[in-house]
Amino acid sequence: MKSKLVVVEDDDTLRTLMIQHLSNMDYEVEGLSRWHSVMDYLEKYEPSLIITDARLPDANSLEYIEKISVNYPVIVLTAFGSVRDAVSAIKAGAVDYILKPVSLDTLTITVERALDNAALRRDHMFCKRQLEQSIQRNSSLVGNSAEMAELKQMIGAVAPNDITVLIQGESGSGKELVARAIHAHSHRKKHNYVAVDCCTLQENLFESELFGHEKGAFTGADKQKKGLIEGAEGGTLFLDEIGEINSSGQAKLLRVLETGQYRRLGSTKDLTANVRIVAATNRDLETMSAEGNFRSDLFFRLNAFNIVIPPLRDRRDDIPELAAHFVRNHNFSTRVIKNLSSSAIRSLVSYDWPGNIRELKNVIERAIILSGDRQIIKPEHFSFSRILGKSEGAVTLSFDHDPSMEELEAHYLSYQLKKYSGRRGKVAEVMGISERSIYRMIKRYELDENSYKAS
Ligand SMILES: Nc1ncnc2c1ncn2[C@@H]1O[C@H](COP(=O)(O)OP(=O)(O)OP(=O)(O)O)[C@@H](O)[C@H]1O
Ligand SMILES: [Mg+2]
Repeated sequence: MKSKLVVVEDDDTLRTLMIQHLSNMDYEVEGLSRWHSVMDYLEKYEPSLIITDARLPDANSLEYIEKISVNYPVIVLTAFGSVRDAVSAIKAGAVDYILKPVSLDTLTITVERALDNAALRRDHMFCKRQLEQSIQRNSSLVGNSAEMAELKQMIGAVAPNDITVLIQGESGSGKELVARAIHAHSHRKKHNYVAVDCCTLQENLFESELFGHEKGAFTGADKQKKGLIEGAEGGTLFLDEIGEINSSGQAKLLRVLETGQYRRLGSTKDLTANVRIVAATNRDLETMSAEGNFRSDLFFRLNAFNIVIPPLRDRRDDIPELAAHFVRNHNFSTRVIKNLSSSAIRSLVSYDWPGNIRELKNVIERAIILSGDRQIIKPEHFSFSRILGKSEGAVTLSFDHDPSMEELEAHYLSYQLKKYSGRRGKVAEVMGISERSIYRMIKRYELDENSYKAS
């Protein structure tokens, strides 16, 4: 395709000469004589280059050069002897200048050079954008296993629709990251992404946080307050740990999903929500609803589109890449550039990762500290939280019957809480799961946290 050039010159003879010469060079050329017609032209077309007289009858030259050079390469024609004009034009953003009287050879060379540079700049911008996009990709979901590819494909497919999504996966497997990715790839991305933790919000607070409340709705409600659902207007509402909401919360949420309507606590007025709902849980909602512990109608609504994130041990192909990713993140911020030895990678791949990617991230971060100034991270820098820790000796839990998995988990948790005087953070670290999961388990097994605290 021919490059489009614009020649702006009020001297008819010079303009015609230049148009003829440039057309012979096989460019498509438009001749204009006034600034206002340049503006009209640029409304409709996107030229590759503008060649313009520094002085036009209807314009303050510097100001208009400054304006158009933001988007287009500009070459300025200045009268011989007014070098000051040329300098000002370059300062205003022009890429080059040509002195009058115009020599056609100079015109040829200057135009060619300007077009080449513009092409280079476009390529450079293109590369830069590619790089930015790849960095962004890296800062989102890392992993190239078949499972991960499928996951990314599902995210891409479901994100643009407003459909409700239920994300299921073990602790630390990336549920929140997937929820953010869905928002980021949706047409709602310019609006808010609001995450609500259905688990740590106290039961009675949950509804007022989510739906808001009127002044005087309950003791302590001294002001009207908007709910998080209003804060997410136009955007995405992420309901984390959805399995933890109580039956009253479930009923109200169901209403939102069915009719889009809800009320602030203490209000009789219906409000309409414009949010896309994404929910996550590490519990088996289907079984919970089958057993009557979660409304099945709500489960079906939430489950409109279901994404299951496989645990890390089922997609071990991702482990080397994830590990390298976490090491690289660290390398950005320090002087010692670190790498994993191949035996270190092997040992990461063979571990089972009960705490999934969060645990992997923690293990890497600790190894980076433990390896000090050394460049290579080795297996001895890893401390896995195997349930039967080597250095700690075997843990014995005794039962007078065959315990269920739940009983086993409850007993083991209780054992750890006792050992660390109820310090949730420490227990989370040892068990290789998030503190939130510990909190959740304490609630689920109805353990009395205070009884473990050192008096
Ligand atoms: N595919 C991935 N690529 C890069 N980082 C990841 C990936 N998946 C998870 N992570 C990182 O692992 C950590 C845990 O992820 P996230 O918080 O999304 O998990 P979760 O499933 O919500 O955990 P929980 O059940 O404990 O709430 C985060 O730091 C997250 O950035
Ligand atoms: Mg989470």
